[in-house]
Amino acid sequence: MNFLKWIIPSRNEREVKKLRPVVAQINEIEGGLQKLSDDELRQKTADWKARLSQIQDKTELARALNEILPEAFAAVKNACRRLTERKTEIIVREHPLLWEMIPFDVQLIGGYGLHSGRIAEMATGEGKTLVATLPIYLNALTGRGVHLVTVNDYLAARDSEWMGAIYKFLGLTVGCILHDQPPRVRREQYNCDITFGTNAEFGFDYLRDNGMAARKEEQVQRGHYFAIVDEVDSILIDEARTPLIISGPSVHTYDEQYGQWKPLVESLVRAQERLCARFLSEAEALIKKLNPTDGSNPQNSEALEHEIGLLLFRVKTGQPKSEGLMKLLEDPENLKLMNRAELDLHKDQKKVDLYREKEELLFAIDEKSFEADLTEKGRNFVSPKDPEAFVLPELTTALHEIDAGPEPDARKRMEAKTKVQQDFETKAQKIHAISQLLKAYSLYQLDVEYVIQENKVIIVDQHTGRLMPGRRWSDGLHQAVEAKEGVEIERETQTLATITIQNYFRLYQKLAGMTGTAETEASEFFDIYKLGVLVIPTNEPCVRKDANDAVYKTRREKFNTVLNEIKQIHAQGRPILVGTISVEVSEQLSRMLKREGIIHSVLNAKYHQQEAEIITRAGQRGAVTIATNMAGRGTDIKLGPGVAELGGLHVLATERHEARRIDRQLRGRCARQGDPGSSHFFISLEDDLMRLFGSDRIVKMMERMGLEEGQELTHPWLNRSIQQAQKRVEQHNFQIRKRTLEFDDVMNKQREVIYGFRNEIIHGEDVRDRLMDIMEEVVVDKVAQFTNAESEFSEWKTRQLADWVNLNFPIGLPEAEILKAADSGKESPVPESLFAGLSPAQFAVCNFISDSVRKAYDLKISFENPEALKEVERFTVLSAIDRLWQEHLYEMDSLRYSIGLRGYGQRDPLIEYKAEAFKIFDELMVNVKTEICHNIFRSASSMLAFENFLKNVPQQTLHQAASAFGGTSTASSGGAQAKPSDVVSEAAAAVAEKAKPVRTGPKVGRNDPCPCGSGKKYKHCCGR
Ligand SMILES: Nc1ncnc2c1ncn2[C@@H]1O[C@H](COP(=O)(O)OP(=O)(O)OP(=O)(O)O)[C@@H](O)[C@H]1O
Ligand SMILES: [Mg+2]
Repeated sequence: MNFLKWIIPSRNEREVKKLRPVVAQINEIEGGLQKLSDDELRQKTADWKARLSQIQDKTELARALNEILPEAFAAVKNACRRLTERKTEIIVREHPLLWEMIPFDVQLIGGYGLHSGRIAEMATGEGKTLVATLPIYLNALTGRGVHLVTVNDYLAARDSEWMGAIYKFLGLTVGCILHDQPPRVRREQYNCDITFGTNAEFGFDYLRDNGMAARKEEQVQRGHYFAIVDEVDSILIDEARTPLIISGPSVHTYDEQYGQWKPLVESLVRAQERLCARFLSEAEALIKKLNPTDGSNPQNSEALEHEIGLLLFRVKTGQPKSEGLMKLLEDPENLKLMNRAELDLHKDQKKVDLYREKEELLFAIDEKSFEADLTEKGRNFVSPKDPEAFVLPELTTALHEIDAGPEPDARKRMEAKTKVQQDFETKAQKIHAISQLLKAYSLYQLDVEYVIQENKVIIVDQHTGRLMPGRRWSDGLHQAVEAKEGVEIERETQTLATITIQNYFRLYQKLAGMTGTAETEASEFFDIYKLGVLVIPTNEPCVRKDANDAVYKTRREKFNTVLNEIKQIHAQGRPILVGTISVEVSEQLSRMLKREGIIHSVLNAKYHQQEAEIITRAGQRGAVTIATNMAGRGTDIKLGPGVAELGGLHVLATERHEARRIDRQLRGRCARQGDPGSSHFFISLEDDLMRLFGSDRIVKMMERMGLEEGQELTHPWLNRSIQQAQKRVEQHNFQIRKRTLEFDDVMNKQREVIYGFRNEIIHGEDVRDRLMDIMEEVVVDKVAQFTNAESEFSEWKTRQLADWVNLNFPIGLPEAEILKAADSGKESPVPESLFAGLSPAQFAVCNFISDSVRKAYDLKISFENPEALKEVERFTVLSAIDRLWQEHLYEMDSLRYSIGLRGYGQRDPLIEYKAEAFKIFDELMVNVKTEICHNIFRSASSMLAFENFLKNVPQQTLHQAASAFGGTSTASSGGAQAKPSDVVSEAAAAVAEKAKPVRTGPKVGRNDPCPCGSGKKYKHCCGR
């Protein structure tokens, strides 16, 4: 195998070899450039920029860039030479630094790899920071903005200052996005030719620009042309596990409910426990009867068995985590009886017996469907006087009765419906809170599903046993558990905008990356990002000595040896870098070293700047540095004087990481640029990796060899087995990331539609046209909803249609007018038009309504300041999109969560998720348009404009529309009493200072029944 590799060069090697002539060409050109003056060199930048900025076509631009590549790379190299020769000092993070770098040939190859949109794999210390300047300079000449993405703010600032020296020398501008910059500053940074920043800053700016900005002046980014990601594996793989999320307080909370109902639920749970204890003892007695001690056969054993099964099932439904039950179920006989009883109960289509069984309890928990319901008994328990307090009323019927009732006044009908709806809402909230509390008490156990730390409920990942701080259960469950534990109940937050790292980086026209370790993840880079990997040879051959892994039976033995090795190497004066996989292990080791009196530093990826400074000293004589995986990444460890003679830096790892890549990174921190160095990994069979993924073969082999306490096992074969274990974990993690991404792809498409819509509004000149189009679309929808092409006019729901129109537009439409318009309809709509499928009568009604609305809108325009009105119109559309999109995100979250739970059965959760997501997105789009419609006349640029408009709306019109537009139904003379709510006055001020105008409040509560008669809540219907 190795032999083959030696004679047949790999594809990678061939590729690198092919680039040698390009390198020669660059070097030759650079020789020529040495004769130029600084200004002449700089002039090249200006000339290229002028030329490239003219090219619009993508392919042509790419071709032009390839054409000037050798000369542009040579210009960068030449600038480096000038800085070096002049011993230029640059201030980097407040320290002066002498520039002494001229790109090596391998660095030129790396630069080419990046320019061609690939990942350049170059070992630590090979100077990737400098490599990036070559393609960055070249691509920045297009004027389209190049982004360099780093793992932390410190590196972004450091590299923008450090490498900024070259860009500035050559006449380009450099910016850096940092966490606390205001939008104005950020925009300036993005306007530079080159912009540095972390992935989170770039991603959040994208979300704010597209999901939150209300006008183009608020947007800071200017497109996604080319990004080079430093430490690309860390960002595109490790960080990509969690999406970027901007969140805010949720509107869906009734947090106080949980504390309020806690005492009641507690006594309910206790009562149920007593009940279940009784069932259990009954079951135990029957079990005894079933197996008499004298060995005789009991009579009617079948009936006994059934009875036992039922009792056990009852307890499982009432107290799923009961210890007594668990104990009984340890006997497989009992488990069988219980399962059989459950099956019998489910056989009956009507489930009569099943319900009767549940009624024996106070509440019933269904673990699979994740539901908890009060039974009749339970309702009597919590509210003996009024058990109905916990029964939801039949909403649709109640609303329908009001609609069909004799009440002629639309306003009174609305009031009646509001009451029914409010009653429904309060009850629903109560029932929800109690159900979540019941789950919290019955299904969630302290120190199993969650732990309490610093007065917070922290979820425990059930697969890995890891704590997941910051994560919260949704839909009030977390609050319920907080109430149960008596810790502070935190407000629920909700996602305002979100994107996965994967999908953010896919926005770039061109993407490239660099890292010391990409090869092992090459397939993932290609699958997800279409990024190929080019492995660049080192400048000097690497002479690192990697020892075989040392494997021990227990962690204790392992750490003892680790300590010995540190002591021994430290005594020689060689610096040591100790890698750990977690902060805990770092601290444990630090305590051990302290006891031994060994001076050392501990890093754990929290304070980037400070860490970078410590790690630069890690190569000094006698230094001992303990670091977790991420700590101090990107900072070079240079050997101190005399250290090379001792053997260089020794890297010692106390465990193997989940991914081989991370081990390689750690190893790679020594023996840079031809330095001497060595590495040694220590493993125990108790390590997570070995416990969870290590093959039994290793354990068996160790046992066969009769490994003694404290004895070490090393063998190249073992290294391979451990790598196998790592490969399994890598695969497993890749699958998880891929899965997350598949789910996000659904969201991604929706996000594209919504962000596209928003941008169209933000950048479009004529929002008014769009507004009127939307109105027309919604009118068509509504007409189709309330009327029917086939049926008689008398069967049309003209009253509901008129109610809807009058609630939305001040055109005072009497029912009779609808019928009149319908009667006049002769013309069929054009087949391809918006109206396709409507009958002539329906078509005429649509036209009649939209024309009246347009007329009313023209009247409104005449009272408004034209410029201010433009803002108002934009606001009307954006606020509807934003509010509903955020609600949609909330729903998608819960959908994702509930689908996860539904993933039992044979169904593929992803397919269900897609179908369901598609449906709710469709609804979202309809709702956005309906809400826009609703607010067309409710937004005004000033109080005066609003009042003047209302005054001039025809009198009869106002009467019809009064209740919806802030007046009273008795308003009679010219609508003078029609009082818009005071929001309009705020709107006036807001528009004056060019802030968001505020809309006049609708007089229908969000939770009221929708006056259109759909039976839905107002907020889920026309009020959207
Ligand atoms: N052409 C060069 N000539 C001389 N020194 C160089 C050259 N290129 C890079 N260096 C030096 O090599 C060191 C390492 O550079 P850099 O931090 O960019 O490496 P890296 O490849 O990014 O490593 P890491 O994987 O740790 O991020 C720096 O001190 C830098 O000054
Ligand atoms: Mg680096």
